[in-house]
Amino acid sequence: MGHKIISKTFLNPEHSVFELIIKAPQIAQKASGGNFLILRIDEKGERFPLTVADYNREEGTITMVVMAIGKSTTQLAKLEVGEEIMDLVGPLGKKAHIKKFPNPVVLVGGGVGIAPIYPQAKELKEAGNEIIIILGARTANLLFWKEKFDIIADEVIITTDDGTIGRKGLVTHVLEEIITSRPISQVIAIGPLIMMKFVALLTNGSKEGVPKVPTTVSLNTIMVDGTGMCGGCRFQQLDGGTKYACVDGPDVDGHNVDFDNLLKRNSRFLRVEKVRLSHYNEKCRAEAKFCEENEGEEF
Ligand SMILES: Cc1cc2nc3c(=O)[nH]c(=O)nc-3n(C[C@H](O)[C@H](O)[C@H](O)COP(=O)(O)OP(=O)(O)OC[C@H]3O[C@@H](n4cnc5c(N)ncnc54)[C@H](O)[C@@H]3O)c2cc1C
Ligand code: FES
Repeated sequence: MGHKIISKTFLNPEHSVFELIIKAPQIAQKASGGNFLILRIDEKGERFPLTVADYNREEGTITMVVMAIGKSTTQLAKLEVGEEIMDLVGPLGKKAHIKKFPNPVVLVGGGVGIAPIYPQAKELKEAGNEIIIILGARTANLLFWKEKFDIIADEVIITTDDGTIGRKGLVTHVLEEIITSRPISQVIAIGPLIMMKFVALLTNGSKEGVPKVPTTVSLNTIMVDGTGMCGGCRFQQLDGGTKYACVDGPDVDGHNVDFDNLLKRNSRFLRVEKVRLSHYNEKCRAEAKFCEENEGEEF
């Protein structure tokens, strides 16, 4: 049985980022911040992971925020309210470690990674923590959900690379100001690998005058089965260990991740992915042309 799309909202004018609310009562009962799902749109589709960005246990729904960057995410963006996703497996991965910390927690969300920090922020607030949110985007159009964070957070700071909204610059500039000005118990960073790498480098105690702050990052490695069997999500740790993001994470200790190795691993399929997207777009254009030319015909 498929999972019905209850709502679809594009979050930017370019329609490259969208929010999907999906009926999935059993998953909604168990989902928490830190969990992810594996989707397969139809019988020909590949399996791909998306993070739980919100859940509503009463209504039996889960929310995901997706950036359409390749074949599967572009195909997902084309589904309409009322249509179904064939397979939805989850919640997978470890739940975020939620407890009452003595000092504030800073959550850093970059790009589409803004969405998965939301459930963790909500749960940390419910546990009695003071939470400071840093939201980073390339430009104002790519920023979303500020109003959702305003409701639950003690402070929300926005940065954009081009300064079109909030502070001009990177999330790490604001983070450095915060962790050097007051005691912070924990940093949680979710976003592009390169952003998480620089957050971890900032907070690992190696920079003069900047204190070490425990830092969790969420690893968006290549995933296939999501259950520890295929090895696709393997990553190296700086202490020499090897872990699997799907079962040991995706939230892991940022100070022990070999980001350079992971950045290389994640770019292995770039060429194949580009070819697949271009074939998919060509197929869509051909189908649209066929429908246009044969409008009114019955088959
Ligand atoms: C735990 C986890 C949670 C994620 N959560 C989100 C999310 O909430 N929202 C969101 O927009 N994206 C999320 N991603 C990334 C998302 O899975 C990829 O964007 C998606 O798989 C791309 O598929 P595609 O066919 O559209 O693009 P492709 O052209 O196939 O790939 C584009 C890029 O997406 C990544 N990717 C491709 N296949 C996979 C795969 N099987 N597993 C992981 N990454 C892949 C690679 O970096 C690749 O270069 C998450 C990834 C992981 C591992
Ligand atoms: S996705 Fe296969 S081992 Fe993690």
